[in-house]
Amino acid sequence: MSAKILVVDDELLVKRLIGQYFRKKVAQREYEFIFANNGKEALEQIQTHPDIDLVLSDINMPEMDGITLLSKLRNSNYNFRTVVVSAYGDMKNIRQAMNQGAFDFINKPIDFQDLEITIIRTLDFVQSLKDVQSMLQQAELQMIQNEKMSAIGKMLAGIAYEINNPVCFISGNLHEAEAAIQDISHHLRLYQQNFANLIPEIQQHSEEIDVEYLLEELPKMLASMKVGSERLRLLSTSLCNFSRADNTNKLDVNIHEGIESTLMILRHRLKGNEKRPAIEVIREYGDLPLIHCYPGSLYQVFMNIITNAIDALNEASVYRPYTEMETHPYQIRIKTEVLESENAAIIRIHDNGIGMSNEVKERIFEHSFTTKPLGKGTGLGLSISRQIIEEKHRGCLSCHSTPSEGSEFVIQIPLVF
Ligand SMILES: Nc1ncnc2c1ncn2[C@@H]1O[C@H](COP(=O)(O)OP(=O)(O)OP(=O)(O)O)[C@@H](O)[C@H]1O
Ligand SMILES: [Mg+2]
Repeated sequence: MSAKILVVDDELLVKRLIGQYFRKKVAQREYEFIFANNGKEALEQIQTHPDIDLVLSDINMPEMDGITLLSKLRNSNYNFRTVVVSAYGDMKNIRQAMNQGAFDFINKPIDFQDLEITIIRTLDFVQSLKDVQSMLQQAELQMIQNEKMSAIGKMLAGIAYEINNPVCFISGNLHEAEAAIQDISHHLRLYQQNFANLIPEIQQHSEEIDVEYLLEELPKMLASMKVGSERLRLLSTSLCNFSRADNTNKLDVNIHEGIESTLMILRHRLKGNEKRPAIEVIREYGDLPLIHCYPGSLYQVFMNIITNAIDALNEASVYRPYTEMETHPYQIRIKTEVLESENAAIIRIHDNGIGMSNEVKERIFEHSFTTKPLGKGTGLGLSISRQIIEEKHRGCLSCHSTPSEGSEFVIQIPLVF
């Protein structure tokens, strides 16, 4: 990316000479120059170009001079630095400019070689500032991510424990109850065959409670209880998987289990409601080997991406009639495969939700970028996810999207790294 330099000078010649001297660097996109005629215009340019790296400013200018410009920029938190251009020997103005926060100065008439060295030195400084900032931001992200994961982990472990105990005795007893009910049903049949007709009281009671119906229904009731308790057991296993998933050690992990655990935890959000029918999850799982990865972090990425997909589908449902959504259902398609040429595992998560405009797509991985209402989105999900995939796993996280059609996130993780 080219460095952006704002030249503030009311003399046309200065701008022209700068343009000529640096024309090669401009052509090679190393530098990009923008211009202003005075301090006031410079402030406007700075507003429209927040990515300026360096301001090269004259001191004496109409409307707003360089010293006033510096004083206006003094307490702002822009990353650029300002170099002032002063008349030779004008120490008073130079001292004033330095006291107002100028980074350096050069003299007029401009010695272009000296200017070039000063520009390089200033840009180096600005770059190292940016590097430190980005390191700090990454560290902050990491901290938020770790805190979030450890808080979620603890909560899930607690819930899993609370579910697991009752589920164990429900499913254990269900097994026993099934055998007992079979025996009792058999016993009852024997009674019916031998005594029911002899004793009117038994005959009458069995009609009252509809014994035939109960005998038929009881096994079905038990079967559905078994399905319920099995589902609870799966949920508890998923929660355990999630809460135990390691953030700090690499393990050999079955990725499909991680995706299933995530889907299980998000089950309630995938279900149908009064606003939209259930979201169909289509699995196209390929033959993946165990992946050597940080499972806790990777599951967090699955959670972030699938949650975003559900949000995108919910948002799309606002504009569509229910019956139309039933005929063209919302889908999340999860496809996994090995990409031999890259020696990598690929996980594609596709939704047919609202999709994204190009402007949104360009910014989704930025720290704190969100289009969701205040309190709903922090804008951290994807920037954390990209960090996890690209820095922690040396992989790649990318996105394809078309407005109104949907989005696809592609996670690529090297098989050996
Ligand atoms: N599947 C998707 N379809 C459409 N837009 C999406 C999708 N995934 C992400 N986005 C866009 O990317 C933005 C950033 O996503 P990100 O997950 O980083 O933050 P968020 O979901 O807004 O907040 P949170 O930190 O709670 O996850 C979203 O606000 C949304 O505009
Ligand atoms: Mg999100």
